[in-house]
Amino acid sequence: MERTALTRAMARVPGPVTVVTTIDGTGKRWGFTANSFTSVSLDPPLVLVCLNKTASTHEAFTAADRFLINVLAHGEDEVALRFARSGVDRFADADMEPCEMGLPGSHGACVRVACSMHAVLDAGDHSILVGRVVDTYTNDRTPLVYYNRAFAHPATDTDADTGTEEPVEILHLADW
Ligand SMILES: Cc1cc2nc3c(=O)[nH]c(=O)nc-3n(C[C@H](O)[C@H](O)[C@H](O)COP(=O)(O)O)c2cc1C
Repeated sequence: MERTALTRAMARVPGPVTVVTTIDGTGKRWGFTANSFTSVSLDPPLVLVCLNKTASTHEAFTAADRFLINVLAHGEDEVALRFARSGVDRFADADMEPCEMGLPGSHGACVRVACSMHAVLDAGDHSILVGRVVDTYTNDRTPLVYYNRAFAHPATDTDADTGTEEPVEILHLADW
């Protein structure tokens, strides 16, 4: 299996844009941008995010007892880029404040999912952080979406009403 074929295929799969945060035993804040966030189980409530073993944040997250997933909203592109950038202070812009479990969270996020660490699984060149959900926060903001190696946002009813976007058919799927 060719690596580029897989990355090309996965680029066509839309996903969320999240910033995952934690705090270590010395009080230092850690965070990274991730689109690998997904739910795993409802009973017990489990979610996961994959973290590259070469990431500067890998040691801190695999040792952490809790983490917070911030699902970024439309307009938070800069936050996503900053938390993916190497060698910078990702918390310098002061847009992360203590939220659920006291962990750094974005007040602009459309969803926050607070987890205790359930398991750290070995998966090739990544570790899978499996979190047990202890708290959630949601609002009506439109989420940021990562698709075709770019940030996008799903069309909303408002877009269709105002004609600010190409008209798209909006399907309202049943809850699962
Ligand atoms: C949209 C986007 C999604 C990303 N998703 C992941 C991810 O799911 N897992 C991961 O380990 N890194 C992901 N990254 C890369 C990290 O954010 C970060 O750039 C990488 O860990 C290198 O950071 P370092 O300087 O801390 O080593 C993503 C980057 C972007 C821009």
